[in-house]
Amino acid sequence: MNKMNLFFGGLILTLAGFAQKANYDESMVGNYVLPEMFVTSNGQEVTTKKIWETVRRPEILAMLGNIEYGNIPQTHIKTTWQILEESNNALGGKAIRRQVEFTFQGNGTSRKMLVLIYMPKNIKKCPVFVSPNFQGNQSTTEDEAVIASQYSTYPRGHQKSRWSYERIISSGYAVATFHYYDTYYDAQGHTTESVLPLWGINNDNELQASSGKAICAWAWGCSRVLDYLLTLKNIDKKRCIILGHSRLGKTALWAGALDKRFNMVISNNSGCSGAALSRRNYGETVARITKTFPWWFCNTYSTYADNPDKLPFDQHELLAMIAPRLLYVASAKEDRWADPRGEFLSLKEASKVYKLYGKNSLEGYSFPKENEPVWQDCVGYHIRTGIHDVTDFDWAAYIRFADEKLH
Ligand code: GCU
Repeated sequence: MNKMNLFFGGLILTLAGFAQKANYDESMVGNYVLPEMFVTSNGQEVTTKKIWETVRRPEILAMLGNIEYGNIPQTHIKTTWQILEESNNALGGKAIRRQVEFTFQGNGTSRKMLVLIYMPKNIKKCPVFVSPNFQGNQSTTEDEAVIASQYSTYPRGHQKSRWSYERIISSGYAVATFHYYDTYYDAQGHTTESVLPLWGINNDNELQASSGKAICAWAWGCSRVLDYLLTLKNIDKKRCIILGHSRLGKTALWAGALDKRFNMVISNNSGCSGAALSRRNYGETVARITKTFPWWFCNTYSTYADNPDKLPFDQHELLAMIAPRLLYVASAKEDRWADPRGEFLSLKEASKVYKLYGKNSLEGYSFPKENEPVWQDCVGYHIRTGIHDVTDFDWAAYIRFADEKLH
């Protein structure tokens, strides 16, 4: 075959892949058997939290790293924080605003990340939401003092509907956000500008099959924000929450799995390769996501593209990594691409792990009605009406859940 034929052959295959319609018919989801979560690789049954924590949890975490999200090398990175701006009179006088520039140095190079923090005034110890944003810090608010993020040209306030700052502050919570591009520009071929060179990976050729890429870089950024927050006297280290939407929901789950300092983890519409079960053929599939967004995951993941049934885990096992901490999964009715039912079933399955801690699971629960959150001891779920988005309804539910359960 000459080069031309190869090119057109490849093009036709690619187009055929993209042309394949997503399934939205529940009767076509297919029969699937989930892998055994409570049996170790040596065949030992997991009957206690000790076996879970010392054997099975580390096994699952390693599989998720080696096969799906990739691993983050443990290299020494020097970090400095510089407060670029601070005010005690933000959000109509109700909040403290602080903007901190993080500088990371390692492997002969450096990177910067800009973090926007709002904190309620006069609260000695407050809980905090860490949540990366899609369009730059300035897009989250009309607040004129907010400095634009380096890789974003979005106008001020462009995505402010996703950031219920008033509600967050008046509920007594702090919030910290950064533009996710600061740690990995969200497109193919951006490894070199990302934080990966700090980890010793200078370009795509230096990636191993299980090296982490974008999702790892975004998750890493969330943990670095937490490093800083935990140095502040008015932040309660027992009430740190990570929240992410969509691809950043996948990120929040992975960050929460890796970093146990997050006491509560929220997945907002995270969908395929987030909260939703991969073995259900509904909406986005592993085949589709690894073709469209290969830079999100480690290279090994795409080898399972056409065989999600061969994966030695499913996404409920990612959710189970959060136990015994608090976990909330939210879907949206019109967000069929993210497979709301697959997200609920995954959480229901994952919630069994909490029984090892003497807590109740979601077993026996059926798919809830729209806009009616269901909570058990440590897990919460809702499906809201509307589209793929983060709304004030979502924030209100997360705050109510945290108010009740996060102590
Ligand atoms: C695409 C992608 C999803 C992702 C979403 C988002 O729709 O297919 O997997 O969650 O983008 O991040 O908004």
